[in-house]
Amino acid sequence: MGAQLTTISDRLQIVELPHAAAQTSFADDVRAGLSAPRKHLSAKYFYDDLGSVLFDAITRLPEYYLTRAETEILRESGWEIVRELDAPLEFLELGSGSAVKTRLLVEEALRVQGTLRYDPIDISLDALRASAVALVDAYPSLRIRAYAGDYFTVLAAPELRFETTVLAMLMGSNIGNYEPQSARALLRLVAKALRPGDGLLLGVDLKKDRSTLELAYNDPTGVTAAFNRNMLGRINRELGGHFDLTAFTHEAVYDEERGAVDSFLRADRAHSVAIDALGTSVAFESGERVHTESSYKFDEGGLAELGAASGFRPRKRWCDGKQRFAIQLFERE
Ligand code: AVJ
Repeated sequence: MGAQLTTISDRLQIVELPHAAAQTSFADDVRAGLSAPRKHLSAKYFYDDLGSVLFDAITRLPEYYLTRAETEILRESGWEIVRELDAPLEFLELGSGSAVKTRLLVEEALRVQGTLRYDPIDISLDALRASAVALVDAYPSLRIRAYAGDYFTVLAAPELRFETTVLAMLMGSNIGNYEPQSARALLRLVAKALRPGDGLLLGVDLKKDRSTLELAYNDPTGVTAAFNRNMLGRINRELGGHFDLTAFTHEAVYDEERGAVDSFLRADRAHSVAIDALGTSVAFESGERVHTESSYKFDEGGLAELGAASGFRPRKRWCDGKQRFAIQLFERE
């Protein structure tokens, strides 16, 4: 089965790519993760409708400085960022982008070159369509070719074609959710899709003191705890799970050695939970933890290493005023 192209208007096309054959389902991943000796669930399953709303709430928390810091950099330095590479640029965004942050760069590019082609990639067709329609409505000289599919499939697809210098972007510290090996594999695939002289913009959170990091992932309002517990709620809703969400405590621990904040759900008491769609029950010991997310943090060396391992050389880096977050521009070698 090939790609399916939908033309929504003369300025908006959507390319839908088939799911990779090797792709596992939520049910398979939950079964495997909860029967492992060290239980785990994948962070990619946080974002159902409720999870996406909770994440949006996280970005407004005073303790979760990441989104505000990145937005500050784009407001201050967006004009410089879009002028670093040879114009005209087109944008390739991994993720369909946040309304605010993507618009800052789109507006800067439109100021420089008058028109812009924007190619977002997102696994969620609905999210992709909604954000693309809003963008072409807001900017009459913007053209969009949106790709629905997982990053790995889209980046390797023959349908992915560029017209000018490409500025690829992976913002919001999203690269931090990948284990170092997978992060390199993903960026290598980006490098393969690009040509020398093209750019990659990476938004990353910086290593810093433990208390700031742990507070960012365990806010006193309890929004992040709700976001984490919603993973169990999703299992209840979609797989007929019987989790009592109040029997699990949210935990966020900075592992300085790996440079990652790890999030867990800890069972407060020993108990078993039936999951109807899996035809099984999962036993938890008192205090047993389920790993749900790693959020990797970077420093200058780590960034250069990640780039070098994937075919990119560092070109320029911008930080917020408090040096908490960085936007790193790489150039494809
Ligand atoms: C969206 C993956 C960047 O790891 O900081 C926020 C997700 N998890 N609070 C992050 C998240 C808990 C976030 N990313």
